[in-house]
Amino acid sequence: MEKPFFQITTEGQFQDATERAIFNPELYWEDIAKTFRWRKRWTDIQSGNLTDVNVKWFEDATLNITENCIDRHAETHPDKTAIVWEPNNPDDTVKKFSYAELRSEVNKMSNVLKACGVEKGDRVCLYLPMIPEACFAMLACARIGAVHSVVFAGFSANALRDRIKDAKAKMVITSDGLIRGGKKLLLRNIVSDALEGCDSVETVLTIKHTGDNVQTNHLDKWYHELKENASAQFEAVEMSAEDPLFILYTSGSTGAPKGVVHTCGGYMVYAEYSFRNVFQPENDDVFWCTADVGWITGHTYITYGPLLAGVTNVMFEGVPTYPDCGRFWAVCEKHKVNQFYTAPTAIRALMAAGDDYPKNYKLDSLKVIGSVGEPINEEAWKWYWKYVGKERCPIVDTWWQTETGGIMISNLGILGEQRPTFAGRPLPGIHPVLLDPEGNEKEQTEDTIEGLLAIKQPWPSMIRTTWGNHGRCRAVYFTPFLGYYFTGDGAKRTKEGMFRIIGRVDDVINVSGHRLGTAEIENAINEHDKVIESAVVGYSHDIKGQGVFAFAICEPGTNSEGLSEEISEKVIDMIGKIAKPDHVLIVEALPKTRSGKIMRRILRKIANGEHDNLGDTSTLLDPNAVEAILAAIKD
Ligand code: WT7
Repeated sequence: MEKPFFQITTEGQFQDATERAIFNPELYWEDIAKTFRWRKRWTDIQSGNLTDVNVKWFEDATLNITENCIDRHAETHPDKTAIVWEPNNPDDTVKKFSYAELRSEVNKMSNVLKACGVEKGDRVCLYLPMIPEACFAMLACARIGAVHSVVFAGFSANALRDRIKDAKAKMVITSDGLIRGGKKLLLRNIVSDALEGCDSVETVLTIKHTGDNVQTNHLDKWYHELKENASAQFEAVEMSAEDPLFILYTSGSTGAPKGVVHTCGGYMVYAEYSFRNVFQPENDDVFWCTADVGWITGHTYITYGPLLAGVTNVMFEGVPTYPDCGRFWAVCEKHKVNQFYTAPTAIRALMAAGDDYPKNYKLDSLKVIGSVGEPINEEAWKWYWKYVGKERCPIVDTWWQTETGGIMISNLGILGEQRPTFAGRPLPGIHPVLLDPEGNEKEQTEDTIEGLLAIKQPWPSMIRTTWGNHGRCRAVYFTPFLGYYFTGDGAKRTKEGMFRIIGRVDDVINVSGHRLGTAEIENAINEHDKVIESAVVGYSHDIKGQGVFAFAICEPGTNSEGLSEEISEKVIDMIGKIAKPDHVLIVEALPKTRSGKIMRRILRKIANGEHDNLGDTSTLLDPNAVEAILAAIKD
């Protein structure tokens, strides 16, 4: 397969692309967009701006993204493997789908969705394990023009219900069960709990996967039954470039999770552009991203990016530690993986299991190894470099967000200096800046400067809106600094232009690469009938990056036995296991300012064990609160 011109492979091309993108961004992206299959080309390349929060790309063009992910490859290389599915249990059968088979699978599912009454513009909620049908379902939605909203299958019934309601989903696609490592979850039963009060849902389409008996009702259809008579032909629906492609919910510092909206045209262009440039795939390369389809990484670098580029894509059902801590390396050897993309939390967990695991496998197919989700610490970076990449594979430390749609700052395969803890330079066409708190762009007055990370110019896969609430999108991302997209991260930049991401500057914590709003966890804790008030902060955790530390004030006279566990259960129930607090401390009072604001700075220090260095506490309403908390910790 031929590489498109925009896959940059030399430093000279990199410099040239960067300059062209600065000189004329519209022409830069137009040339790239021309390599895709459109039904109708655009007259206007880009309109709107960051200040007015009305950016549009290729607005009057039409297309269907699945013709680019599937048909153009099924026509030129039908027999090439598109998806290799590796099951949870290494002894179970691997499934492979060629591009031609992918086309007929997606067409059949498109016909089934259509027969169930799903139409262009309808929302479909996906609550699925890591099975090929998860990709087929995303693509089938895109093929018929429905908007998918994938909800990570680790979220609880309550969290699923909130997301179904917010999007007013017409259909939920799920499976009977999910199996990861030694654990099984009956997803269809969780959906039953979630559906209470969800009037918009007309059909629950269930995929038979584990074969377990599950509760069904009058809304149910079994996918394998409907698929039997479904045609393998389906004419993709013509979409406007700015029609929504999907909604993906993510946490922020306030309120309920918000539905980030991405659109068909711009997202497509940037997904393939970033995928090719960062991972540098060649002809018959095999790519593997270990994320779950429930996160943006699984959207852009499992489903869309690799298939747009026409590569062979590994999809893995299981976990890195099952049946043992060598599983990732066993899968790399088994499928001769060339590009491998995972998260620092997994690297740290496998590093803790010892060097022998990677040593026991043949990893010589690897060419580029990647990291995403949180800053990768130097120790983990070095281990990854030495034991996985064998000191010959470049590491791409990729910074981006649900809202950016694709990787923004990273080395491009071999290009860029290998420097642990530095993500590297922005991709050509991306213009990050560092701001001071007043919103002034910082100049490079020293070798390394630090500031708030913001993006200065529209890019094709940027967030368009938050579902059903454009004001919230404006307020969260575009109002803090007028004329910029604000990331919520702090960063450093060297005089060579390399970025090092420091982490969130808002009340968002990053647990195992998953974003959690502290306010959201507090809301869940406050649902416990004995809790009066709570405060949640992140603290530094060896494996997870950050852990969740909760402080709770309970009604006077509450029997505290078992209370911490009950509070944790409440969080699992309201959000899911990923948000479970590592510590719940029952306290008498919280440190507050005279105006009643909780001083999180002090709680963060306490949670991080910095008890002797709490800083200025003189503005506290009740200085004894801190003493009481420290005493409670010692108990
Ligand atoms: C937040 C976005 C993008 C996919 C996974 C997470 C942090 C992400 C890096 C990195 C340092 C990183 C940031 C960002 N983050 N990648 N390479 N180095 N920090 O997506 O849930 O939207 O979270 O993850 O804090 O803002 P997300």
